[in-house]
Amino acid sequence: MKKEITFIVNNEKIAIEADPKWTLLYVLREVLEMTGTKEGCGYGECGACTVIIDGQAVNSCLYPVMEAEGRNILTIEGLMTKDGELDPIQKAFVDEGAVQCGFCIPGMIMSAKALLDRKPKPTEDEIKESIEGNLCRCTGYVKITDAIRSAAGGR
Ligand code: FES
Ligand code: FES
Repeated sequence: MKKEITFIVNNEKIAIEADPKWTLLYVLREVLEMTGTKEGCGYGECGACTVIIDGQAVNSCLYPVMEAEGRNILTIEGLMTKDGELDPIQKAFVDEGAVQCGFCIPGMIMSAKALLDRKPKPTEDEIKESIEGNLCRCTGYVKITDAIRSAAGGR
């Protein structure tokens, strides 16, 4: 039986009837039609589904939607300004050539954002640790870490 749940996504209050079995990823993509957050593995291994909940990067494919009650969720769609300006992390990924097929990139950027919001000047190790749960089959990660370092003002 569905239950009402309310939470905030990208600064907008959302109220929906949700099946308690649904994951947050399912609700974002299939109910709210926000498909920027990707489904890769579906079981917590690839990070493609990463969103930020109350400041923490989480795998939305493992996150029961009922646990989102009252929480503040940021997805990749929430990074761009209303005027269509990219977030500085998105700009850095483009400028550093860190995007190939692009499938992993929303998750990578959300993991990087959670780090840079918490720690604007991270160490190399912190940059690498921030994306250790995010798999990329294309880039070899070097340009991705370059982009995060650049977004932090380190290049
Ligand atoms: S789709 Fe969630 S970790 Fe892979
Ligand atoms: S850019 Fe293709 S998986 Fe990362």
